[in-house]
Amino acid sequence: MKRVIAIYPGSFDPLTNGHLDLVERGAKIFDELIVAILRNPEKQALFSVEERREMLETMTTRFSNVRVDTFDGLMVDYATRVGATAVLRGIRAISDYEYELQMALMNRKLEPRLETVFMMPAEAYSYLSSRLVREIASLGGSVRGLVPEMVEEKLHRKVTEPAMKRREHRKKLAGG
Ligand code: PNS
Repeated sequence: MKRVIAIYPGSFDPLTNGHLDLVERGAKIFDELIVAILRNPEKQALFSVEERREMLETMTTRFSNVRVDTFDGLMVDYATRVGATAVLRGIRAISDYEYELQMALMNRKLEPRLETVFMMPAEAYSYLSSRLVREIASLGGSVRGLVPEMVEEKLHRKVTEPAMKRREHRKKLAGG
């Protein structure tokens, strides 16, 4: 019987509950789902690839058909290498559509045998993005319920605490 392997590529910087929602949906329809973290030396990430991998691995252990990997170079080349015939991407709102359509069509041009499959996360996550999570955490806001607890703790240690300390320090210097 034909087994469908899909990859779910992304930056996952950091992993959010929206990503996990999509992993859960993808794990239901594909025989094997590989969450593939892009190793991109050009993009300054908040979490290292190893940290992101650890968070993803911990949070996806309950899915027996999901594994986590990293890749660099063209996504279509990686997909071919691991025998994937589908790429899973999430679409939250119409604003995602244009970029995702462009990427899907370009990937189809590069590798016509690879199909992009779009899935919608739960409405509760339709406004959620890693970028906003990073920004909120760095400004001392709460990201509870938006990311797994493990990610929340790591964000606190990496960005919220140092940002708060810097703010206190500046206040002191200004004599406040
Ligand atoms: O989570 P992101 O940042 O939206 O994910 C984007 C990602 C990793 C899927 C995309 O940038 C990608 O596939 N990069 C690998 C390089 C590549 O294949 N580029 C051509 C895309 S048409």
